Amino acid sequence: MATIKVPDFKSLFRPGILSVNPYSPGRPIEEVQRELGLADIIKLASNEDPQGPHQGVVNAITKAAQDINRYPDGSCYLLTQKLAEHLNVDPSTILLGNGSNELLNMIVRGLISPGENMVFARPSFVVYDLAAAVHFECGRAIPLDKNDKHDLVAMAKAVDAKTKLLMICNPNNPTGTYNSQQEVEALLQSIPSRVIVVLDEAYFEYAFADDYPNGISLLQKYPNLVVTRTFSKIYALAGLRVGYAVGHPELITQLQKTREPFNVNTLAQSAAITALSLPHVVKERCMRNKQQGIWLQEQLIRLGFEVVPSQANFLFVRHKMPAGLMCDKLLKMGVIIRPMNSFGLGDGALRITIGLAHENQKCVLALESILV
Ligand SMILES: Cc1ncc(COP(=O)(O)O)c(C=O)c1O
Repeated sequence: MATIKVPDFKSLFRPGILSVNPYSPGRPIEEVQRELGLADIIKLASNEDPQGPHQGVVNAITKAAQDINRYPDGSCYLLTQKLAEHLNVDPSTILLGNGSNELLNMIVRGLISPGENMVFARPSFVVYDLAAAVHFECGRAIPLDKNDKHDLVAMAKAVDAKTKLLMICNPNNPTGTYNSQQEVEALLQSIPSRVIVVLDEAYFEYAFADDYPNGISLLQKYPNLVVTRTFSKIYALAGLRVGYAVGHPELITQLQKTREPFNVNTLAQSAAITALSLPHVVKERCMRNKQQGIWLQEQLIRLGFEVVPSQANFLFVRHKMPAGLMCDKLLKMGVIIRPMNSFGLGDGALRITIGLAHENQKCVLALESILV
């Protein structure tokens, strides 16, 4: 039999791809259950909302499931109309995506040509790093400031003639810090309008600070701004994958060309439409998150953690115990949190998603048994 020649796959890929560290998600509950034989596990690792979707949303998904032999509405007509009403914007300014993650990738791929660059903060949402690495290694990462916030002045200074995109994660994942309206506007005023600024507001609905900006209200004044948000967090639809971008109609028209024809599935569209009709649910979840966040923060400080004030549904903390060791110990007690070594943040950095009261209590009890 002739020998089968396997290509040298590595040599076929662009150099940028070989250097990429693949995205490493929080460990799924089922995987940890299988591995450790534990029945009761809580996951505070992926910044999901700890409550499942509202029953009305589940009913809408069940109803929509009858039609999944058909392709989805590729234009997301009804969802776009509903969102336009909800956000008080024109439907032509909205683009739906298979999670906001897809939209971020579309923006990078659609706009950046070889030799051009994208400015973003580090540590911030790892997808910016990944998107840049696989797309001509176009990333220009600027460290956070000493308060773990985006250093928007340094980011503006990093903009040059070849900069096409600048990403602001507000509030920032993983630190939970935010930039005020004044800071964001100062940045927008200090850079050329040919630079597209992406304001990633995945955690917008959890934020409560008075000077936290609503990116959508800035769009009229700054046509080079595009805002991304998601149904994965407070709307509790992470498993369905639906997010949106809002920006100038011409920008959205061009971006539309880069999406898959049926990028948002039927169940996701129905669920998101229904979720938008339940604003009280969002309010309740925001309140719950704020209260639980205050409680968790107090407990963590009591246990010797340095806690960074957060506007999101997670807390970024530091401790002298190495993060990997602490996470392993917690895992054995059925609590999954996220070590932040992958963000290049040194040994003791961790991110803990704010859960329901009983989950936060279990996490604190487990930490007490390790630390006290
Ligand atoms: C800052 C930020 N942006 C975007 C996303 C992507 O969200 P999704 O693709 O689920 O809409 C996440 C998810 O964790 C995030 O933390």
